[in-house]
Amino acid sequence: MKTEYIGLNFADIYRRRGEYHIENNKPYINGYEGAGRIVELGLAVIEHKIGSEILFVDVPFSNAEYVAVPEDKIIYLPKGINAKLAASIGLQGLTADFLAHDLGHHKEGDQVFISGISGGVGQILSQILISEGVSVFGSASADKKKAAALSFGVKEVFSSRENDWNAGLTGKFDAVYDGVGKTLNQSVSFLKNRGRVIFFGMAGGNPPQINLVELLAHSKSLLTGDLWDYLISFKEREQRSQRLFSYFLNNKIQISEPKIFLLAEGKKAHDYLEAGKNIGKVLLKP
Ligand SMILES: NC(=O)c1ccc[n+]([C@@H]2O[C@H](COP(=O)([O-])OP(=O)(O)OC[C@H]3O[C@@H](n4cnc5c(N)ncnc54)[C@H](OP(=O)(O)O)[C@@H]3O)[C@@H](O)[C@H]2O)c1
Repeated sequence: MKTEYIGLNFADIYRRRGEYHIENNKPYINGYEGAGRIVELGLAVIEHKIGSEILFVDVPFSNAEYVAVPEDKIIYLPKGINAKLAASIGLQGLTADFLAHDLGHHKEGDQVFISGISGGVGQILSQILISEGVSVFGSASADKKKAAALSFGVKEVFSSRENDWNAGLTGKFDAVYDGVGKTLNQSVSFLKNRGRVIFFGMAGGNPPQINLVELLAHSKSLLTGDLWDYLISFKEREQRSQRLFSYFLNNKIQISEPKIFLLAEGKKAHDYLEAGKNIGKVLLKP
């Protein structure tokens, strides 16, 4: 395929540093996510057509103008979802989808907290949950990040880099979604008894050791998940992406405008994401 937009993700930063938990080859040609058009077919390919608009979220070495995409990793774009939107919501949206639907299992009226709520996963996850009648709270570092989250229907956003407020949230939530990592103890303390922390990333640094006996004493649970275990066939990618796209086609989710860098300026894009300057998605344009 010819890429129109390439998604930059935290996993690209972990890979570049050589500390990605599922691959540790270093140095590493980056990129995993992109959207564009099929321009050539392999000799054995009969199902797909040149010209189709597609997305992929798990094809390595995709910081490139042309990417060889295995057939089962193709996700077709429906009318109404263009390449820019697809690359902005693909990997993070499918993550939000499995977190909410495979791990969250909320009931209407649940109260949840999301750390890094203005990020790519946080924006989509919060709106999926709000659309299901869940009350969503979260943390963010800058006023414009907080304002973005509030504009999507989040009830209250706390300052992520200060902690004078966190004692007030002890024992308040049915679930806490933690993609920051180093905040894991705080996340556990925010739970009601029988609550669940859903740990899914370490944008802020590796998580501390958790005392399982303390969890047991209050019937708290810790769940984790990696998108790669939820996308294991063409069919699964298709079903999950259709559910994700339907939120956008039905105007149930909005996202902030992605920040776009030229692919040739990849270093600037990495620095920007790593410094936490982004609100939502960072894209690379070949
Ligand atoms: N498990 C999976 O399958 C899966 C899939 C995709 C992503 N992830 C993980 O999900 C997390 C969020 O990814 P994303 O794509 O949404 O990234 P993102 O858009 O950059 O959001 C990450 C958020 O983390 C916070 N953050 C960043 N650096 C931090 C630091 N040094 N200290 C504290 N907070 C920091 C930022 O919030 P503030 O600046 O507002 O505090 C930012 O909004 C990452 O850990 C990523 O690895 C996991």
